[in-house]
Amino acid sequence: MKKLTVLSVVAASLLLIGCGQEKAEQTKTEVATPAKTETVAEKATKAVEATKEAATAAIEKTTQVAKDAKESVAQTATKAVEATKEAATVAVEKTAQVAKDIKEAVAPKAEEAVAPKAFAKCAGCHGKDGKMKALGKSEIIAGQSKADLVKKIGEYKAGTRNAVGMGALMKGQVSALSDADIDAIATYVSGLK
Ligand code: HEC
Repeated sequence: MKKLTVLSVVAASLLLIGCGQEKAEQTKTEVATPAKTETVAEKATKAVEATKEAATAAIEKTTQVAKDAKESVAQTATKAVEATKEAATVAVEKTAQVAKDIKEAVAPKAEEAVAPKAFAKCAGCHGKDGKMKALGKSEIIAGQSKADLVKKIGEYKAGTRNAVGMGALMKGQVSALSDADIDAIATYVSGLK
């Protein structure tokens, strides 16, 4: 507002000063205005160019950063995949070795387990393979069916079996056996061929 007021006063003064002077002033203004316009245009052009350059530089930088990041991510991923592969291979080898060790450790024990501890004393009369006639009198027990063996041993334990007159002797042999012992012995002896 103040500027406008000053300008109005100046304009009024110029009008008052007269035509000759007014013309001169006009010429001055005409000369000054294009110059000013040029400066503004130049400034704008420069600003636009500077902005363009800055934008181009920023785009190039961003592109480079993105490229670097991509390469670095790809490298990291490749390394991770290789590391995982190696770890998996090691784990598989280890597992296979452990499985082999377990198999080797268990195999002999599995064979041992087939002959129940309770059968040890029976072997003295019936033979290790169950194929001896006990005291030259009994039937051969090897290969008899599990059901028959369970039944017969149970009968000796109860004192109700006496096939060849030596049931009392057999009662003494089996009286301390549990049902589980009898089951295990019967399973083992029926498998002796
Ligand atoms: C001291 C020798 C001796 C021992 C030890 C012995 N037995 Fe016997 N076993 C005999 C005789 C003798 C007979 C026949 C008994 C009879 O008259 O029924 C017999 C019979 C049997 C029969 C019946 C066979 C048949 O088909 O008629 C079975 C089964 C049997 N014994 C299992 C066992 C078991 C199991 C053990 C170990 C827990 C055992 N015996 C220990 C001597 C023995």
